[in-house]
Amino acid sequence: MRKQIAAANWKMNLTLQEAEILIDELMDITHDLKENQKAVFAVPFPFLISVKNKIVDKKNFFVAGQNCYDKKAGAYTGEVSAEMLKSIVVDYVILGHSERREYFNESHPMLAAKINICLENGLKPIFCCGESLAIREAETQNSYVETQLKESLFHLSAEQLTGFVIAYEPIWAIGTGKTASNEQAQEMHAHIRNVMTNQYGAVVSESISILYGGSVKANNAKDIFGQPDVDGGLVGGASLVAAEFAAILNSLK
Ligand code: PGA
Repeated sequence: MRKQIAAANWKMNLTLQEAEILIDELMDITHDLKENQKAVFAVPFPFLISVKNKIVDKKNFFVAGQNCYDKKAGAYTGEVSAEMLKSIVVDYVILGHSERREYFNESHPMLAAKINICLENGLKPIFCCGESLAIREAETQNSYVETQLKESLFHLSAEQLTGFVIAYEPIWAIGTGKTASNEQAQEMHAHIRNVMTNQYGAVVSESISILYGGSVKANNAKDIFGQPDVDGGLVGGASLVAAEFAAILNSLK
């Protein structure tokens, strides 16, 4: 069975003190995960070591960076490298979140380079894709997302994509309280898996975890995660409330 993943994306929220309270609360109320399930905490860089230390003994709990730079090292003031993340035993890195694409002009080639440097350092990317409302209204979301996948992932080998993690996040559903319907989510996830099948074959595509993101909450997670091609979620707002995220973890297949 594919890995089922609930990934918390804290974005640029909380102080260290608040972060520690949140993770302590969550550790107190979360149950053990099944073999095929994972919890991932994409927390701001300054909190990674602290959060990692708090979850390290909990089976199938991991930390993630929310980004990293596409260069190895050097005079790039303010950036964080994949090697730095590796050196503090980070497991995953979110790449290509729509907020990074929009506010920081992250392009397809830049994301391809970031993926490469993460893989070289043994970090697992969580590659985000998804369309804006205008693209959804023009009904061109399938080709739009296909281009995102092609431009940033198709240079990878079948081996590199085996067990890979993709997050589909329709921009119109992020932070808006408006989720994609179960049917819309399933339809796009099946499309993404189909695109990967056509390029890499069913064995590879069936191994890829495709997470849904966009206003996932405790009260809708079970329905969305229940869709056949939805393998968990990337959760923003609701991941900042311990009881909400614990319930979301409990909703994994
Ligand atoms: P949201 O954010 O759950 O607050 O909609 C999801 C995301 O941006 O990853």
